[in-house]
Amino acid sequence: MKILVTGGAGYIGSHTVLELLSHGHDVEVLDNFDNSSAESIRRVEKLAGRTVRVHELDLRDEPAVTALFAAGGYDSVIHFAGLKAVGESVAKPLAYYGNNLESTLVLLRAMAASDTRQLVFSSSATVYGDHAPVPYQEDHEPLGANNPYGWTKVMIEQVLRDVAASDSSWRIGILRYFNPVGAHESGEIGEDPSGIPNNLTPYIAQVAVGRRESLTVFGDDYDTPDGTPLRDYIHVLDLASGHVAALEHLAAMEGGARAWNLGTGHGSSVLEVIAAFEKATGVKVPYTVGPRRSGDLTESFGDPTRAEAELGWKATRSIDDMLTDLWRWQSQNAEGFGG
Ligand code: NAD
Ligand code: UFG
Repeated sequence: MKILVTGGAGYIGSHTVLELLSHGHDVEVLDNFDNSSAESIRRVEKLAGRTVRVHELDLRDEPAVTALFAAGGYDSVIHFAGLKAVGESVAKPLAYYGNNLESTLVLLRAMAASDTRQLVFSSSATVYGDHAPVPYQEDHEPLGANNPYGWTKVMIEQVLRDVAASDSSWRIGILRYFNPVGAHESGEIGEDPSGIPNNLTPYIAQVAVGRRESLTVFGDDYDTPDGTPLRDYIHVLDLASGHVAALEHLAAMEGGARAWNLGTGHGSSVLEVIAAFEKATGVKVPYTVGPRRSGDLTESFGDPTRAEAELGWKATRSIDDMLTDLWRWQSQNAEGFGG
């Protein structure tokens, strides 16, 4: 298949591009490098032993995107491009609604105009909102969110369902990721957050490598076994293989839009993650317990059985694998791609 990957230079995108190449697909990347660097694609090319054509474009540039699709001959699109920092979205809602919604609408129009109607979209467990019972089921309604970033995912999912309902030639996969962590086992590519990491495992890795002094655990008074929140951490390579499985399923599917949870079905606490990191790497992570972070849920994990039944996909890597691979990436690239 010839596949355009939007946001393909980013964290999940770069691992997925590598996985697609290893399955023999023909892959092109569209990215504006707002939150990534071209170095990630150079390393993917080195690992794959193949070149990847990169279109340095903003997805909101409609004339350029339309022209790209008119000439591209793509069979399918995987749409990762977007802004993703929850806290920043609260401070800059218009930037988030603007980028995430506009870029998706431009993409859908350019796809329709060029008769490309197979799409995989990066959604998030955040669409289950504050009140869904765990483990989250794909059919849960109503979807909701507690920050502008999350609402962009809820809104885009609705757009995708409406587009699929309007024309049965669309085949759309909505992948709801849980908490992606880890890195490629080579240590060549991984997550390279700009500024202070928002997420737990990149923060742990930066403390361990000496870039930050100590981790703050955001609250230990939750109603969980050790008082810290539970999350469904999933290895980014398992996530990448989920995209390949979804594409293969869509190619054989009748029209429509369908959502799948991509998670392990299991929650780990913050303290368990710290302990697992120390055990996997032998490196101590100093931490202090601080107040809760606003908006954090007590627990978030999904039921992954639909993806297993329909896509033939299941997460196989353990939390130890995730943290060992994260550490290999971070210790070999203390400053990320810029180092
Ligand atoms: P990332 O920031 O590493 O990758 C996103 C990429 O999109 C970046 O390379 C960025 O430069 C590019 N981009 C952003 N806006 C663009 C635009 N207008 N035009 C062209 N390129 C643009 O993020 P990631 O962690 O790889 O996440 C990928 C997708 O998965 C995002 O849609 C994100 O919301 C979603 N997601 C991520 C997580 C997570 O925890 N990482 C969880 C659930 C869902
Ligand atoms: N945490 C800390 N200290 C830190 C960072 C995080 O204690 O420095 C804790 C958080 O309080 C939370 C857990 O670690 O209990 C995981 O936090 P992350 O920020 O890594 O992940 P979240 O589950 O909060 O956020 C993720 C994605 C978001 C998505 C959200 C809901 O990063 O994009 O899940 O699905 F919106």
